[in-house]
Amino acid sequence: MNDGKDWFAWHSPYADDDSPLARRLRLVQQHIAAWFDERPGKPVSVVSMCAGQGHDVLNVLASRPDATRADVTLIESDPRNVAAARAKAVTENLETVTVMQADAGDLASYRQAVPADLVIMAGVLGNISDADAHATINALPQLCAADATVIWTRTRRAPDLTPRIRTWLADAGFAERVFHAPDGVLFSVGVHRFAGTPQPLATNGEIFTFIA
Ligand SMILES: C[S@@+](CC[C@H](N)C(=O)[O-])C[C@H]1O[C@@H](n2cnc3c(N)ncnc32)[C@H](O)[C@@H]1O
Repeated sequence: MNDGKDWFAWHSPYADDDSPLARRLRLVQQHIAAWFDERPGKPVSVVSMCAGQGHDVLNVLASRPDATRADVTLIESDPRNVAAARAKAVTENLETVTVMQADAGDLASYRQAVPADLVIMAGVLGNISDADAHATINALPQLCAADATVIWTRTRRAPDLTPRIRTWLADAGFAERVFHAPDGVLFSVGVHRFAGTPQPLATNGEIFTFIA
């Protein structure tokens, strides 16, 4: 399920507000917060794939008085990140957050969490093969409720896959809302809206293997 990379230490640059990772995080958080604001008062469900320590959605929820209307599932394989995300959820009284230690590349891991109104794929598409990125995008209609939003990130390091990712998302029934590709950094952040028909979750199936 995992390789030799230290995915706990990977989060360290978040402590530096000027780091590209922190800048990327702020963009993702901005879109999560805007997404909540566009749906005032409604119960919503959120799933984060390879959620890490959950800095994006947990920090947004921690600042919201209406956090409990969100049923949130974080799927993360590294036990240290799972523990950090759970500790944050407890500290912030985020009672509707579930942090699952599971393989986000296995569709079975999503059984209790979907269909979701918001799917967060931050730090996923750059750590899997191009074929798996395509397969993961093709599987999104199994994870998304009608009219769901997907927030995703991807490095634009050459060869830049983001043009193909955006085409694959369109082919899978997603309309692009935003695509940030700031100058001077390699990250990008996309926001897509599902305009297709939700599909039932396959009982089993590997959609990706982490390779980074
Ligand atoms: C690049 S980090 C992104 C973390 C988080 N989404 C963020 O943007 O802050 C990738 C995360 O995926 C986790 N991971 C790796 N393979 C996984 C798998 N098969 N299932 C779930 N999580 C996985 C790693 O432990 C790591 O926390």
